[in-house]
Amino acid sequence: MQKIPKFIQALLIVFGIYFGFILVFDVILDHLIPNSLLNMYMFFIVAGVLAVYTFTEEGTRELLAPIKSLVEDPSKVGTRKIVFVVVPILVAGYVFMQLLPSVEAPLELRSIHPAPPSTVKIYGKRYDLRTLTNPYRELEHEDPEEFSDMVEAGADVYVRNCHFCHGDKLDGQGPYAAGLNPVPLNFQDVGTIAQLQESFLFWRIATGGPGLPDEAAPWISSMPVWEEFLTEEEIWQVILYLYDYTGHEPRSFEE
Ligand code: HEC
Repeated sequence: MQKIPKFIQALLIVFGIYFGFILVFDVILDHLIPNSLLNMYMFFIVAGVLAVYTFTEEGTRELLAPIKSLVEDPSKVGTRKIVFVVVPILVAGYVFMQLLPSVEAPLELRSIHPAPPSTVKIYGKRYDLRTLTNPYRELEHEDPEEFSDMVEAGADVYVRNCHFCHGDKLDGQGPYAAGLNPVPLNFQDVGTIAQLQESFLFWRIATGGPGLPDEAAPWISSMPVWEEFLTEEEIWQVILYLYDYTGHEPRSFEE
């Protein structure tokens, strides 16, 4: 059997491992391997292959022989010209493609639940969000009848104001939802109000999109500033309704 030249061997090993990674991660595990990680692995593999193949001087000479002959061998002048023209053109083309403007929407790292400020000014009063609680929450145990009246009042607030965006099933699928970006939040999802304290909701509902802090850039939320339209009482009532309808429990301060 004819021996495979060392140069080709080295290339085969490097590309074999590269496609092996892709095969194992993307095809078999169906779990994309991040490019940065793959680049790092490949760096060490190329370094390792070079270390092994250049261990002896003879090995180095054999490894580099095809490159040396391409550059020096008078009989390869034709190939040389082609390689030295084609390779730079390919690289230039690749770089040019990278520079073309992309029409994809820019990546937005928008924080959906930004950290709340510790105190907020709502209705002209300063509230400490770390201790603020829903004044009607106690009724749930103390006076269930009064509580259900409050939930009902909250349902009324919701139907008159919120369902257009957040949907009549509180799933974020209101009639306006399709036109909005960011989308109105789905309160049924365990990732929204189930994770939050009632004081957080009070702040978000009262101050809406414009009340979002810096980290929630780019501040294009259509969530209205409800302190301009609802009373404080109505906001606490609608919060009761959001939890009552979805069956979620608000997060408490003790947790
Ligand atoms: C014009 C559409 C619109 C209306 C009407 C609307 N919202 Fe929103 N709401 C949004 C959008 C969009 C978001 C998501 C972006 C954001 O967080 O600001 C949101 C977010 C929220 C959040 C934050 C939830 C979370 O998990 O952080 C709460 C709470 C909320 N809305 C409650 C309400 C209540 C209560 C009403 C009615 C009084 C209401 N919304 C009416 C569009 C709307």
